[in-house]
Amino acid sequence: MCGIVGCILKTDKAAPVLLDCVQRLEYRGYDSVGIATYSSSGIKIRKDKGKIDEVSEELHLEELPGEVGIGHVRWATHGLPTRENAHPHTDCEGKIAVVHNGIIENYKELKDQLVSEGHQFLSQTDTEVIAHLIEKYHKEGFNLEGAINKAISKLHGSYAFAVISTDEPNKIMGVRKESPLILGLGDGEYFLASDAPAILQHTRRIIYLADHETFTMDEDGITVKDRNGQIVDKKVETIKWTPEMAQKGGYSHFMLKEIHEQPEAVKNTLSEVSDIENIVSQFPQFKRITFVACGTSHHASLVGKYLFEALLGLPTDVVLASEFEFSEGAIDPDSLVIFISQSGETADTLKALKIANKKAKTLAIVNVLGSTATREADYVIFTRAGPEIGVAATKTYISQLTCIYLLAACMGKNRELLDELQQIPDYMKTVLLLEEDIKEMAAKYKDAQDFFFIGRGFSYPTAMEGALKLKEITYIHGEGYAAGELKHGPLALIDDDVPVVAVVPPGKSHDRTLSNVEEVKARGARVIGLGSEDDQVLSYEASDMIKFPSQIRELISPLLYVVPLQLLSYHMSVQRGIDPDKPKNLAKCVTVE
Ligand code: AGP
Repeated sequence: MCGIVGCILKTDKAAPVLLDCVQRLEYRGYDSVGIATYSSSGIKIRKDKGKIDEVSEELHLEELPGEVGIGHVRWATHGLPTRENAHPHTDCEGKIAVVHNGIIENYKELKDQLVSEGHQFLSQTDTEVIAHLIEKYHKEGFNLEGAINKAISKLHGSYAFAVISTDEPNKIMGVRKESPLILGLGDGEYFLASDAPAILQHTRRIIYLADHETFTMDEDGITVKDRNGQIVDKKVETIKWTPEMAQKGGYSHFMLKEIHEQPEAVKNTLSEVSDIENIVSQFPQFKRITFVACGTSHHASLVGKYLFEALLGLPTDVVLASEFEFSEGAIDPDSLVIFISQSGETADTLKALKIANKKAKTLAIVNVLGSTATREADYVIFTRAGPEIGVAATKTYISQLTCIYLLAACMGKNRELLDELQQIPDYMKTVLLLEEDIKEMAAKYKDAQDFFFIGRGFSYPTAMEGALKLKEITYIHGEGYAAGELKHGPLALIDDDVPVVAVVPPGKSHDRTLSNVEEVKARGARVIGLGSEDDQVLSYEASDMIKFPSQIRELISPLLYVVPLQLLSYHMSVQRGIDPDKPKNLAKCVTVE
């Protein structure tokens, strides 16, 4: 949600570098874009609403002079996506420019106070108060660092922001509190960004800031201080992600590339098994498990529930992170609370993690190294999906599932499952070969207004994830439903205009889901069936059939059956003229509650 970047270079090419960095961060927001640079003629800003390509073509953002600058892509929270609300924001005199990610909760009262003191605001954003507060304290005699610290002491909420000022040029200062921010060390050049993919092409040497840490970067280097103003000796970590991993690599969209990277993502995540065994060996005897997550990660949690109950016999709850403070499930000191988040920065998830940490042992399953969840949880397992740029989660979901299966196998000392998991990458390659058929299917169904996705047991989360992908990137209404629940209400909505995607792998749920297929067919629905290549009955009943290798049993089917559903939504999205990488109103990392 909003992305910020900054750089101090040896040449006066800050603007094109910033433009490139924000472009790589556009998955965090694409309501507007803006860049501010400092040069001998002061701070210059260019910004406007819209995606980077549109804005840059008009404004030539890359033409600003200067060695130092900051940039921003916006996911609107306060105020419409307009030029005025685009970052950077400045003080009254245009001497201080700020880019911000997060929310200033008390901005209204701060703004009223500042307006009463004569400050003139140009936007409806919460961010603008930061620039004016710094101006106020600067005018009261504080140097830039003092003014920023004083401003921070007045702010409530979450924020990562970066500031440049004409009074102390050639430096960038800023802070992190509950919103991600990393610093990068190049060869005599320095960078900041909300996420690593923004600066990977310049450096892989990263400093991860902790909450309340402030930083100053100038041509001599980077200084980090804690909230008491003491210098912190920060570790510089070299991340494994390469710039190529965050590029499209010949695919038309990141999402398509990421779908095709899934066999590799599973393989890499499977190689974590010894780390997971090591973590499991430290576990006390847990009596219950609670999974907590949002969105796609919530669907991975639901698979976790079916799996842990089936394999470990442990009572397992699943709680949406945004609901956790209202209903925690039955957590107590004998519980393990598992948090799943690709970003490790989702605000709802982090809030729930803080609550759970006071009562139980916590484990975070996360894709992003150095993210907040990795610092807060008692135990951490990394998914090895590599950077995921498409807003729709695909390979990170599959990697989360892989981690959950590995965890269950290690906790249950289930060698057989561990061996079976090794087959998944090959099965997945076979499933991906269905893409051309699925593309044709997409053309057939892309104009439907409503879809149902149904499944039972292990297939219920797959149905939910299929529906989420559809809504997110095609803007078609899709409902993921427990197949047995249809007759308790939604069956009233089924007719020949509502296609039903039925997830029917071979196993315990098969026959009963097949009865539900009959029921929707009897109401006129066209059925897309997902089942085994041997399944003659489903093949006969379905209007269209997606066939899987018959060896894929129900228990492992979530790892594979979701893949064609990702492809189906992807192709419908493209055929409907939508950019699946940047669906409207959404952003990759949701850092607001
Ligand atoms: C799914 O395609 C979405 N991008 C979204 O539901 C996402 O899974 C959710 O916001 C949680 O994100 P996280 O895994 O980074 O915590």
